[in-house]
Amino acid sequence: MKFAKLDQRLIGNMTQAPSDPETVRIFDQIARSRRSIRGFLPTPVAPEILRQVFETAAFAPSNCNTQPWYSYVVSGEMRDRLSRIFLETIGNGNYSLDFPYDAKYEGVYRQRQLDVGLLLYKALGVTREDREGKRQAFLRNLEFFDAPHVVFIFMPDWCGIREACDVGMYAQNLMLTMRAHGISSCPQTILGYDADSVRRELNIEPEMKLLFGISFGYENPDLPENRIVPDRATLEAQVKFYS
Ligand SMILES: Cc1cc2nc3c(=O)[nH]c(=O)nc-3n(C[C@H](O)[C@H](O)[C@H](O)COP(=O)(O)O)c2cc1C
Repeated sequence: MKFAKLDQRLIGNMTQAPSDPETVRIFDQIARSRRSIRGFLPTPVAPEILRQVFETAAFAPSNCNTQPWYSYVVSGEMRDRLSRIFLETIGNGNYSLDFPYDAKYEGVYRQRQLDVGLLLYKALGVTREDREGKRQAFLRNLEFFDAPHVVFIFMPDWCGIREACDVGMYAQNLMLTMRAHGISSCPQTILGYDADSVRRELNIEPEMKLLFGISFGYENPDLPENRIVPDRATLEAQVKFYS
């Protein structure tokens, strides 16, 4: 395996000196403005920005620096083709998942799941009884919410839960770097529901396993579904400080 030679320009200032308030402000803005966006403009991201984003994302940490993430970025005709395939397969309940999605959410987790669903349906004007409205909202996933790009995130088949954590850190780096460039995204487990088609169409080795996809591009600011801000649990509920 070849390693990219890292030069100083790529790494930036490697010292970890305390930051200044302006850096904190900007980073807070980037992290807090990352939300799952479910409606995009057709404007593509410039190729040089795409490269920059994926280069920066790779500075994520990983167990033993194994970097077990693999990104397959799809645009243009292949994007349209995959969307059509997904509507046929996933849209009709024909799945091929590399990793099961069988968690049963209970208690507070179930409540959070319900809350975010309600928030989204309310923004879309979909009522509780409106089964067709819900189906249309679901199918928007398979149209990548009109995003011009989608990245499929894979890891090799030998990977386990620890390596999946590495990949998650990489994916978050990716979405935050996108935000710094004004690009929005939506991570989507559902895009991993037809892994066989993704492998076949993109000519990916069978040893590569699909975790999820991320639709991305520039947000359509006119859509009410892009204005929802799902709640966060309180700091006290999530973090305990010891000394
Ligand atoms: C791994 C992962 C998979 C997700 N899958 C989907 C999905 O298939 N469809 C969707 O609309 N949102 C999906 N989401 C987005 C979540 O619903 C969203 O992150 C959560 O409600 C919090 O909202 P926020 O991202 O706007 O902060 C996914 C998020 C993650 C991290």
